[in-house]
Amino acid sequence: MIRGVVIPAALAGIVGYIGILAKPSSSLFSYHPAFMTLAFIGMLSSAVLLLNRDVKLSRRSKTFLHWLLNGLAGIAAAVGFGSIYYNKELNNKPHFTSWHGLIGATACALLLSQLTFGGIMNYPQYAKPVLSYSALRRCHAISGTTVYLLGSGAFIFGLFTTWFQSQASALAIITVIGAQALVLGSILQQVWKGLGVLNKSWKNVKN
Ligand code: HEM
Repeated sequence: MIRGVVIPAALAGIVGYIGILAKPSSSLFSYHPAFMTLAFIGMLSSAVLLLNRDVKLSRRSKTFLHWLLNGLAGIAAAVGFGSIYYNKELNNKPHFTSWHGLIGATACALLLSQLTFGGIMNYPQYAKPVLSYSALRRCHAISGTTVYLLGSGAFIFGLFTTWFQSQASALAIITVIGAQALVLGSILQQVWKGLGVLNKSWKNVKN
């Protein structure tokens, strides 16, 4: 019930609400909150959550959708980053001066490297001399979770920017934070469980 209904509803609610407030195409800035939320909250969360055992899809379909959603998240994040960066250039404003901007820029840079190294997961034979497949999977899960945590952090800080504070009520901000906390909790629980399984198989290989 929680994973099947509440979490997807929370994700749709967050992406839809920020999208409606931002009104993409109304200004250059408007693309930033809308596309960043779509990328870091909507798509990255879905790309991880669909790997859950409860999702009844073949492993092949899950891997394909995981790839697709992560790739689309990369494109959406590039649009979101480009719009705020160029908007600041046009307005002669300095870059990366807030915690939101700094954490957000780090999340974008790490997302790029995660997407690049994620590609290696398809060719584990080339990494084998250095890392076994299960070690590769653990690294991928841990680095992916780090990117997600940073993206979530940037998102929460984004809710405290002057722009958002002037658009939304305190109740709306609390509701969005609560919804994202729920999604984050569910993702961390899934990753933690998955790492436990990987650790067990790692020990069996060693013994
Ligand atoms: C979800 C992930 C997000 C990421 C990774 C992110 C990333 C960034 C980055 C890197 C900057 C600085 C750009 C520069 O200085 O050139 C920035 C600025 C900004 N962002 Fe976001 N953002 C996100 C979501 C949001 C959301 C949801 C909002 C509003 C609700 C928002 C509002 C702003 C505003 C108003 C600025 C300009 C002021 C500042 O630099 O702090 N962002 N963002």
